[in-house]
Amino acid sequence: KLQEQLIITVLGASGDLAKKLVYPALWDAYRFDSLPEDTRILGYARSKLSHEDLVERFKPQLKVNGDDDEKKRDSFLESLDYIHGQYDEAKSFKKLNEHIESMSQAKTVNRMFYIALPPSVYKDVTEQLSNHCQAKSGFTRVVVEKPFGKDLESYQDLNAHMSNLFAEDQIYRIDHYLGKEMVQNLLALRFANRVFEPSWNRHHVACVMLTMKEDFGTQGRGGYFDEFGIIRDVMQNHLLQMLTLCAMEKPVSTGPDDIRDEKTKVLRCIKPLKIEDTVLGQFVGNPEGESEESRKGYTDEEDVPNDSNTPTFATAVFHIENDRWEGVPFIIRCGKALNEKKAELRVQFRSVPADIFGNSTRNELVLRVQPDEAIYLKVLVKEPGASSEVAQTDLDLSYKCRFGEQRIPSAYERLIVSAIKGNSANFVRSDELEQAWRIFTPILHDIDAGKVKPKTYKFGSRGPSEADDLVKKHNFSYAAYEWSQCHDQ
Ligand code: BG6
Repeated sequence: KLQEQLIITVLGASGDLAKKLVYPALWDAYRFDSLPEDTRILGYARSKLSHEDLVERFKPQLKVNGDDDEKKRDSFLESLDYIHGQYDEAKSFKKLNEHIESMSQAKTVNRMFYIALPPSVYKDVTEQLSNHCQAKSGFTRVVVEKPFGKDLESYQDLNAHMSNLFAEDQIYRIDHYLGKEMVQNLLALRFANRVFEPSWNRHHVACVMLTMKEDFGTQGRGGYFDEFGIIRDVMQNHLLQMLTLCAMEKPVSTGPDDIRDEKTKVLRCIKPLKIEDTVLGQFVGNPEGESEESRKGYTDEEDVPNDSNTPTFATAVFHIENDRWEGVPFIIRCGKALNEKKAELRVQFRSVPADIFGNSTRNELVLRVQPDEAIYLKVLVKEPGASSEVAQTDLDLSYKCRFGEQRIPSAYERLIVSAIKGNSANFVRSDELEQAWRIFTPILHDIDAGKVKPKTYKFGSRGPSEADDLVKKHNFSYAAYEWSQCHDQ
């Protein structure tokens, strides 16, 4: 008889999130032996699905590499369990509980519930889980996905509901950017090295810029997107999380609460975002676009009203009013239907004082989150050869060159494994989220009320030109220099 066993229940197992992200992540965790031994996976949703339906649904999503993997995948698929039921009915959840009980004879049975469901059913589902499905021996954890509310008030309401049902250390709020390799690297880079910290402040840094660009539209998610918009979709969570990791003080330890205490402190030093510190945009079709998608504008997408005021692009400037950062603009740029797909963080240093070379190009430390993970530092060196001019180049750590084919787990896989281990350092704490909503709520209400209108920009462009003006005004200077990865292979 097993001493201890884990049962993971995915609620919303028939949905898109489960298919595209949760099950593939569970498969990878299983394939690379990161799940506790004999972990069982149970799907739950309203649709009646047979085992064959499940296999047909998930198989094409699960990557394999060679015959051994294929065998392993077959046994993974074979082991998947599923039951159907309602989301608001005690009877269904009692049945779910009985089913979980029947799945293990172990002395301690830990339960993890992954809620991959739309917000309209969060409250019902969490209440039912808390009432009927808590573990008798072992832990009960719930993993929840954004959106956690739409503004400060709705967040507080949802949070009050959740915290009546579960203790904070049972709730794992996923922000999948916190599972990305380079985002996790920020702490190591800053605090495991001596060289960066002394200049990581207003005396040396001119400006910090965080960018997340995507080169596609809303890809069939128009209905969801139109209700939320780019600020709620990626800025209030993914990019703000990166900002806090970049700006926070050194935590007392790498313990989850020490890290999150510091992140929350940074957020508390940021005033609510003002309209004059932002440029919002909404994409229109590009008549010369090569693909059919690019010729369509946002309001041509399914489920988006013709007069939608929802921004698909935003640039915003934040000021952190503390000793370290006063006067340093933190700029976040993000958008859909732009000219490229990338996410990165740039710390731009001030120009050297009393420049004797006549080239005051700034140093810049860049952390490229995706694609092609890299950290590079733009520096000036003497031009090689007879010249005594200085020229810009970089000290480059491109992950593919340096670490070869070493596997980088997906953000979801990493976070699921952390939640199983009970490490909540890379999950968002309730007070942190409350601060994040405080910063954005006034402007979100103004946008929702139609008081601010997004500027238009063409599909495939850099976004509205006013955004570049705002960035320039806040002291970020673009250097005429392109980084290209792997110079030396
Ligand atoms: C999600 C947003 O949270 O993040 C999407 O809802 C966005 O709109 C996605 O496309 C981006 O994630 P990634 O990992 O592809 O950068």
